[in-house]
Amino acid sequence: MCRGTTAARIIGTNVQKLRNFDNEVKMWVYEEMVEGKKLTEIINTQHENVKYLPGHKLPANVIAVPDACEAVRGATHIVVVIPHQFIEHLLKTIHGSVTHGARAISLIKGIAIDKHGMTTMTQMIHRALAIPVSSLSGANIANEIAEEKYCETTIGCAEPDEAIVWRSLFNTPYFQVNCVGDVIGVEFCGAVKNVVAVGAGFIDGLGLGNNTKAAIIRIGTLEMRRLAMHISGAQIQDSTFNESCGIADVITTCYGGRNRRLAEEFVRTGKPMAQLEQEMLNGQKLQGYLTAGEVYQYISSRGVADHFPLFTRIYKICYKGEPPQSIFDGLNVDFSRD
Ligand code: NAD
Ligand code: 13P
Repeated sequence: MCRGTTAARIIGTNVQKLRNFDNEVKMWVYEEMVEGKKLTEIINTQHENVKYLPGHKLPANVIAVPDACEAVRGATHIVVVIPHQFIEHLLKTIHGSVTHGARAISLIKGIAIDKHGMTTMTQMIHRALAIPVSSLSGANIANEIAEEKYCETTIGCAEPDEAIVWRSLFNTPYFQVNCVGDVIGVEFCGAVKNVVAVGAGFIDGLGLGNNTKAAIIRIGTLEMRRLAMHISGAQIQDSTFNESCGIADVITTCYGGRNRRLAEEFVRTGKPMAQLEQEMLNGQKLQGYLTAGEVYQYISSRGVADHFPLFTRIYKICYKGEPPQSIFDGLNVDFSRD
């Protein structure tokens, strides 16, 4: 919602200048009570998401609605931003309410594993709603965007004409959009870099320095590329890693993200990630340790875990009680032939 509210803030401002869009932007909010009041009512009266993006006013044309079906009904463009563990249920809920001819874009940074292997969020949304789905991901820490500090992002969209429309909804002087055709590559990077961020947090928790973290970032990025090749063959383009959704997002999340912060605390306190999420994030959700589990399921079920020593170590530290210091075990892998 932190990210969702930030996106709604940008889109709400941009549609006021776009002649081919209605002025009203409906923002579905998973309803909850905040100091005895419904969060949707607070947002619609104070024009601020006091729980997930406090201190940043929303334009008055952003209307919070507690009913996801109402939010999508009649919409031509649907922006999906939700922690990835909740997507399946949401899609079942809205599936009969989406208007024919609508399009969607996913800002989710997560993946799902099922019997077919790895399924990305755009693939899941497309399967459920039968509409074209694009992706948006980048080095985009939500609070910094809300403070209108300059950053870049990447849209993955298969149709150049549609990419122009999506860009018009998101681009601002402080939020610079670059469009590529690689829908899956963009979202893949956004999901899997969260695993690297967990590794970076372990390094901080161990009190090691910048050189060590840089080594984890380098190896993590190589494992991301290797996994992309393993999953998709040449479908995910190597050039996508040079976009904001690639290396830039790895860097920002490894220094400034929630996944990094909680992984550091995990090492310092020994508390489980789920407990730290509850104690430290005030309702916000982590993606990285879930994705570490999902990636490990994928690489182990295909017998290639040995080719991903960092992802394997991060999984075992998160889920199997292995010591954080073991993150370095077996990291001297040769990536030169990838
Ligand atoms: P968040 O972690 O700030 O908040 C959690 C949200 O989940 C809240 O809106 C809460 O109401 C909602 N929620 C709780 N239980 C729910 C349920 N059962 N069903 C549906 N919703 C429920 O969320 P976020 O930061 O907007 O993250 C959404 C996605 O955007 C994630 O994939 C994240 O990785 C990605 N993203 C986040 C950032 C960021 O800096 N926050 C940046 C880029 C991308
Ligand atoms: P965290 O979820 O770790 O805060 O990452 C945010 C992000 O994806 C920034 O681009």
